[in-house]
Amino acid sequence: MQREPAFISIFDTTLRDGEQSPGCSMQPREKLRLALQLAALKVDVIEAGFPVASLDDFAAVQMVARELRGPVVTALCRTLPEDIDRAWEAVREAQRPRLHTFIATSDIHMQYKLKKGRDEVLVMAREAVRRAKDHTDDVEFSAEDATRSDPDFLCEIVAAVLEEGATVINIPDTVGYTVPSEYAELLRNLRSRVPALDQAVLSVHCHNDLGLAVANSLAAIEAGARQVECTINGIGERAGNASLEELVMALRVRRDLLAFETRIHTPELYRTSQMLANITGVGVQPNKAIVGKNAFAHEAGIHQHGVMASPMTYEIMTPESVGAKTTSLVLGKHSGRHALDQRFRELGFDLTSEALTRAYLLFTRLADQKKEIFDQDLVALINDGLTDVPDTFQLRAVQATAGTHVLATALVILFDGEKEITETASGDGPVNAVFEAINRITGFSGELLDYRLASVTGGADALGEVFLRVRFPEGTFSGKAASTDIVGSSAQAYLNAVNKVIHRGKLASDPLLQS
Ligand code: KIV
Ligand code: ZN
Repeated sequence: MQREPAFISIFDTTLRDGEQSPGCSMQPREKLRLALQLAALKVDVIEAGFPVASLDDFAAVQMVARELRGPVVTALCRTLPEDIDRAWEAVREAQRPRLHTFIATSDIHMQYKLKKGRDEVLVMAREAVRRAKDHTDDVEFSAEDATRSDPDFLCEIVAAVLEEGATVINIPDTVGYTVPSEYAELLRNLRSRVPALDQAVLSVHCHNDLGLAVANSLAAIEAGARQVECTINGIGERAGNASLEELVMALRVRRDLLAFETRIHTPELYRTSQMLANITGVGVQPNKAIVGKNAFAHEAGIHQHGVMASPMTYEIMTPESVGAKTTSLVLGKHSGRHALDQRFRELGFDLTSEALTRAYLLFTRLADQKKEIFDQDLVALINDGLTDVPDTFQLRAVQATAGTHVLATALVILFDGEKEITETASGDGPVNAVFEAINRITGFSGELLDYRLASVTGGADALGEVFLRVRFPEGTFSGKAASTDIVGSSAQAYLNAVNKVIHRGKLASDPLLQS
């Protein structure tokens, strides 16, 4: 007899644990954009941030809570009363709010980090859940570093927080230390020793330090976990978290062995992955399972031959099932607005008429410079050109000269509204000279922390995408831009960061962000 598949709740923490990974920080409006996409992907829970950590984190959680419909929205907090109240303040307007409180339970963490004994930690956990329950019914408790905790103490603390009314119990493998069989055993043991656990949702949260996060999560599901915490592209602290797309597709493709199902609308996976990569500027490794550029590419002649005869020879899932398109060449100089609209729809972007007009303008400019326009070019254009940070300063023209034994100089012309402003500067190289000229015009002066240049597509006329991070006295901002001219895209990316600083200043008085 066939078993009814059990339902697995997908808890996405890209906006919280994911954002904690180097280079992945996001502005509140970028988080909102990604959260809306996660809702389209049909995740069950979105962890939107850690409100006490910063004003931006608070603003992002509040914005997501106010705007999102569908998924549960949760905010992370330590067990401290002020953390819990602050998290509640940020998340309380959500359609389905949840508070997620955590404390470390391993001796290593309690001794060196918390400097507290077991009794004190137990009391803090109990009181935190009790306080959170005063705010909302849906309360998740995480025993940080559970896999290196004493199992007896873990049972004791889980039983205690269940008594206080915790509705979800999360057993994280915080340092990515466990292996599948051990993790499954830990969970089975916990379930048999704490019978009340069956009244709550058992959750897991795996880090990828040994590359086992997805395998550990799958083993946990087989041992009774019914919520898995994961991130898009597997981003997260250190080596990252379990990757959402890998987990979901493993469950889908191996349904014959794993009788579980999720609500995830898998054709949105590729688009979500691309959106995250474009927001953060942290690209997806080409051989990344499910969403990497090579995940459905067949190089060896014998493989190509097999796939042509039947895709089943070398493909265990179709590219369409995860929303990856196989066609590469799309549009050229003579393509019209309608064709562009059609292609964007195929790529999963439903543009408003205004956004399409702007995209078309950028597209025609690109088509003048480049013979063939690929899907990645279009995605880069849309992410570069259509973000909701207003272009307070706009690039009109840039010219730079450089060479061996000559001083690099640049001339930059910007629009400030209707006004055209021209400046020249010299620097350590043409890009540095351009940035200096922009500083002089805008009055902002940033320190470049990170500068990355990648070609988005192949060929001599490929789009060069620049991603950079700049520290201004007002904070650290990223900027990105794509163009066939790398000096131009560097100028545009730097300007993008400057415009964010200006926008952030204006956001501070945005009524949406006021509590
Ligand atoms: O890795 C971890 O333990 C966490 C908890 C806060 C859930 O991220
Ligand atoms: Zn974590």
